[in-house]
Amino acid sequence: MHADLSPVDKAKYAAARRAVEFVEKGMRVGLGTGSTAAFMVRSLGERVREEGLNILAVPTSEATARLARAEGIEVVTLEQARWLDLTIDGTDEFDPELNLIKGGGGAHLREKIVATASDQMIVIADSGKEVAQLGAFPLPVEVVRFGWQASKALIEELLVSLDVLGREVRLRMRGDTPFVSDEGNYILDLHLGRIGTPRRMALVLNQVPGVVENGLFIDVCDRVVVGYGDGRVEVRDIDAGTVEDSRVIFDESPNAFADLSD
Ligand code: A5P
Repeated sequence: MHADLSPVDKAKYAAARRAVEFVEKGMRVGLGTGSTAAFMVRSLGERVREEGLNILAVPTSEATARLARAEGIEVVTLEQARWLDLTIDGTDEFDPELNLIKGGGGAHLREKIVATASDQMIVIADSGKEVAQLGAFPLPVEVVRFGWQASKALIEELLVSLDVLGREVRLRMRGDTPFVSDEGNYILDLHLGRIGTPRRMALVLNQVPGVVENGLFIDVCDRVVVGYGDGRVEVRDIDAGTVEDSRVIFDESPNAFADLSD
């Protein structure tokens, strides 16, 4: 089934496959967004269909909601679920303390709301997402459309006093027009190179008028499931300080996940 996937996609699949083992019957589960999360939603769908696993799922984007419904997973709103047992989501970067940069897909606002309304957050990632220090990946900041240039100017001014390598701020585009999030907002991508003080950065960015949410997830993630191209998987638990190794076997039958590959 997975023979045709690229090594990175195999790593994403392996992490996703291992992470869905943490889902138990009756759970209310937050479903992340992005290519790694899509492997997770597919894998969870298999468990729902094959094992009759009954769960309620809260997706973090319209795209994930469509995929989850197509997989036969019961989708509810966060208002209906009220609180979640577990959220599983991808990331753009994670550091040794399991702090994250998210929002490469523009979904970090809903992702942060869902993750922080959960008892546990598990992040799934290929090993290329691991960094010693956050910031090589541009930090997404969601801003309301009204006066977005003013918010951008204030962020640029703020960056002068923060420990960063670069200060370029770009409005995210989709073709010729600005990218619009599921909540109807714009995204500014902050090209910082390195974020010396991520906790401070996360707090001060959200003080800027017009900023809705930034993509830094500080102290939100409990475990990271890291996948490798050869099927190896590591589960790192930040509180317990443990690392657990296992292996996912790729099967060779026709590739049901091919449409999710890069
Ligand atoms: C969506 O906005 C993001 O936060 C994603 O979770 C993140 O970009 C990871 O995406 P991939 O799994 O596609 O790399």
